[in-house]
Amino acid sequence: MKFFYSLVLCALSVLLMSVIGVAAQSPSELTQGAQLYDKWYAAAGLPAPEGNMPIWSRQSTNTRSGAETWRCVECHGWDYQGREGAYGSGSHYTGFPSLLRQADPLTREQIIAHLKGANDPQHDFSPYLDEASLRKLAVFLKDGLIDDRQYIDSVSLQVIGGDLQNGEKLYTETCAACHGTDGKKIVFRSEGVDEYLGSVARRDPWRFLHRTRFGVAGTAMPAGYDLGWTPEDGRDILMYAQTLPTGREAAPVTGAGAGSEPEPPRGGPASNLWSGILTGLAAFFGTFGLSLLFLGGLVLLGMLIVSLLRGRR
Ligand code: HEC
Ligand code: HEC
Repeated sequence: MKFFYSLVLCALSVLLMSVIGVAAQSPSELTQGAQLYDKWYAAAGLPAPEGNMPIWSRQSTNTRSGAETWRCVECHGWDYQGREGAYGSGSHYTGFPSLLRQADPLTREQIIAHLKGANDPQHDFSPYLDEASLRKLAVFLKDGLIDDRQYIDSVSLQVIGGDLQNGEKLYTETCAACHGTDGKKIVFRSEGVDEYLGSVARRDPWRFLHRTRFGVAGTAMPAGYDLGWTPEDGRDILMYAQTLPTGREAAPVTGAGAGSEPEPPRGGPASNLWSGILTGLAAFFGTFGLSLLFLGGLVLLGMLIVSLLRGRR
């Protein structure tokens, strides 16, 4: 009888483990919607459409062209506020509307209809995105938007309020493995310039916050939203990241002659490969450890039940 109980428990825990494993691996619908909003063709694994998005010709202030013009974010902003937010001026200005305001009263079905061109035939993404992707976008627009004005000062671009210690803790635990403690381990190319986490956080805090909450499509970067973080946790990380080096600090003055030998090369493919493997292992054992913990709890519970049943006899 005891053997039977343990068998059932074993089967149960294996089932639970696999459920946890799956949940930990695939991003939620909302997160997938947010990544589609960021760059839908990359998130859906499609080539970018040719030419400019037809609506693009309604404006002339933003001079970008091609693939960029098809991204939701290029017209509606990283803060979702279009002309009412960060893209209300500067090179990204288009005059296109805020979704924080305009999508709020709409139902999911109305948003999907809009993305199929029901109200504006030029705003039709159905030739490219399937029903499931359009639904994910609608889920994100209905339930994922936040008002960045409560977290980011639109003039100084600095974080409003915020808990630096919480930001540092979360950064060290979750981000430093890939981005390095100084945020410079991964270099991003953005419009022809090298960027680090510190420089993105200061130059474009809205983009930083969106990508911290939802990750970047096609990378192993975890989405804060799926880790159960609040928008405030994201804000705290942003606050901490704004203290990281931007790479634009004045270079140390090096004397001419003997002192100015070139620095030994750092990084290189071999060490990158190793850090990749190490990160992978860390992630694996993270999930694995969680499952083990669960298993342990279940076995303990089982033993308790068995001993209770025995006591009765
Ligand atoms: C080239 C610029 C552009 C792109 C790209 C773009 N939009 Fe829009 N969007 C607009 C404009 C302009 C409007 C308002 C006029 C209209 O409805 O067409 C609008 C309206 C909307 C509305 C409806 C708001 C209302 O008032 O009913 C939603 C929802 C929306 N967009 C979501 C998205 C999503 C999601 C994407 C990405 C898949 C996207 N948009 C891509 C320009 C753009
Ligand atoms: C598994 C490795 C990994 C982890 C962990 C990770 N990232 Fe990333 N992150 C990446 C990769 C890869 C990119 C994309 C690089 C690119 O676009 O070239 C990226 C991109 C970003 C960007 C976008 C920068 C831009 O140019 O817009 C931000 C912001 C960011 N990460 C913040 C974070 C934060 C904050 C954390 C911790 C919560 C984190 N990342 C954890 C791998 C990681």
